[in-house]
Amino acid sequence: MSTSNFDNPNPLSNLEQWEDDILRRYPEPGPEKKKEEFRNYDSPEIDTVREFYRLNHKYQTYDNVLAKKERFLKFDQQQMPWWSAMEYLNTLVDDSDPDISLDQLQHLLQTAEAIRADGHPDWFVLTGFIHDLGKVLCLFGEPQWNVVGDTFPVGCKFSDKIVFPEFFADNPDSHDPRYNTKYGVYSHRCGLDKVHMSWGHDEYLYHITKDYLPEPALYMIRYHSFYSQHREKAYSHLLNDHDEKLFGWVDKFNPYDLYSKSPKAPVVSELKPYYEDLISKYLPETVSL
Ligand SMILES: [Fe+2]
Ligand SMILES: [Fe+2]
Repeated sequence: MSTSNFDNPNPLSNLEQWEDDILRRYPEPGPEKKKEEFRNYDSPEIDTVREFYRLNHKYQTYDNVLAKKERFLKFDQQQMPWWSAMEYLNTLVDDSDPDISLDQLQHLLQTAEAIRADGHPDWFVLTGFIHDLGKVLCLFGEPQWNVVGDTFPVGCKFSDKIVFPEFFADNPDSHDPRYNTKYGVYSHRCGLDKVHMSWGHDEYLYHITKDYLPEPALYMIRYHSFYSQHREKAYSHLLNDHDEKLFGWVDKFNPYDLYSKSPKAPVVSELKPYYEDLISKYLPETVSL
């Protein structure tokens, strides 16, 4: 499904606006950190985030997800070495506020370096480094609402714990009796692997990496934007025991993604050899996108 002629499909001037909004919703706990720099918003930004979610919630239907899986899980867009793919992601240029914004590669390195500094296993560090690679979907012409934003199950009732729940009124699935009940096409504690999540960079990268990384890493990648579950517990009726256990890793990962941002840019050339080694330890030489 595409957006209507009247919609600007990409209301965010950069993808960071969505992530800054998550920080506004879930500020870092603890008095010792300066949070103002993360929450320093002007209202035009909030308006663009609202417009972004209006589109996201209107168009993320069950059929949209199946269509995007059909299109992108063939992995016939591009094939390249992993490091080149990370550089390719970085061509998603952030054109606003060059003083405070970091590019994609810097966010990924800051996330990974914070995980490394805390002494976590190397696959966890690698997960931090690649977790947003799926945003290359933007470079394949996908609108922002099909790439970023909070993710949530489709095929069952949209929770009012999802940000801007009122916008789901415009989603045709909200009026479709197959999809608008508590369980919809699913069953009690059926397990998340049976649940179709809204399409975006999380689900896409999960399918790219699922044969190579340990299961906790795959949960972090696949559900890192599923805030209505890992923060609000809105979909526990769809999780099985295994999901509950593995979600502990999503919780562990989340603060590194949200709170590792710092204006000090990492020196890519110094870090590259370490990350090239990590990539070659776990991942094939090239990635098919
Ligand atoms: Fe992400
Ligand atoms: Fe991220």
